[in-house]
Amino acid sequence: MITNKEEYFASLKRAGDYIKSCLGDRKVPEICLVLGSGLGPLADMCEPYFSVPYTDIPDFPKSTAPGHAGKLTAGNLSGKDVFMMSGRFHYYEGHPIESIVFYVRVMKMIGVKMLFLTNAAGGIRQDMVPPQFVAIEDHLSFYAESVLRGPNIDELGTRFPDQSNVYDKKYIALLEECAKDLKINLTRGVYAYTKGPQYETPAEIRALRTLGADCVGMSTVPEAICANHMGMKVVAVSCITNMAAGISKGPLSEKEVLDTAAAASDQSCALVKEFIKRL
Ligand code: HPA
Repeated sequence: MITNKEEYFASLKRAGDYIKSCLGDRKVPEICLVLGSGLGPLADMCEPYFSVPYTDIPDFPKSTAPGHAGKLTAGNLSGKDVFMMSGRFHYYEGHPIESIVFYVRVMKMIGVKMLFLTNAAGGIRQDMVPPQFVAIEDHLSFYAESVLRGPNIDELGTRFPDQSNVYDKKYIALLEECAKDLKINLTRGVYAYTKGPQYETPAEIRALRTLGADCVGMSTVPEAICANHMGMKVVAVSCITNMAAGISKGPLSEKEVLDTAAAASDQSCALVKEFIKRL
């Protein structure tokens, strides 16, 4: 929890100033893409302006999740300037809650308008058989600790933010158009956030299904809540990499998740590139 608001705010500014200095005279990109499993190659598909390890950015947390490189790239992708985060910060890594969303706040402070989140997720709805993409239209997380807990930073957003429209409907429709034209299987769905690192039990999945979840994963929602708090546009896409516990015929494994995400990588990258192009 944030205990010293001034200090936290100053650390956001230090990180933001460093990122701006890396850009030199260039304008700050308006889009920040978070590259989840399978989307790593996107960072090498742009003309980079700079690429720095998170360890070089003052006060940035360290990313420890497997398959997450831990670097920030800025460059031109599909004709638009973007930031790309290769690796994010998960609650299960042990980060304090405010560290998970530190980068989101830094991005907002330097002028980024849109956060595009991607992830791997387990399919709960029967038709969510991998490889399948989901445009997240809403989420469930009321049972998890909020990233907004603690003193509110009034400069960033209100104490009690509305969450009626976290995921922009206009961009969900655009994602659907892109997927249709690229012949990529994409459906809308509700993403249930779990803190991990253990996968869910079959009973938990049945409970989440009853509550209205279509897919489940261990990321994205903290960042979406934080970005929505600050009035950023949020777009989020899941790649279904496995059927959730109890629906899947076999046990769940990280290998299955990473292998399926890698197999779907071309489609994931194509979808994101097309979306950026049509913005
Ligand atoms: N559960 C939680 N997180 C996940 C899953 C899952 O089934 N698949 C990929 N990330």
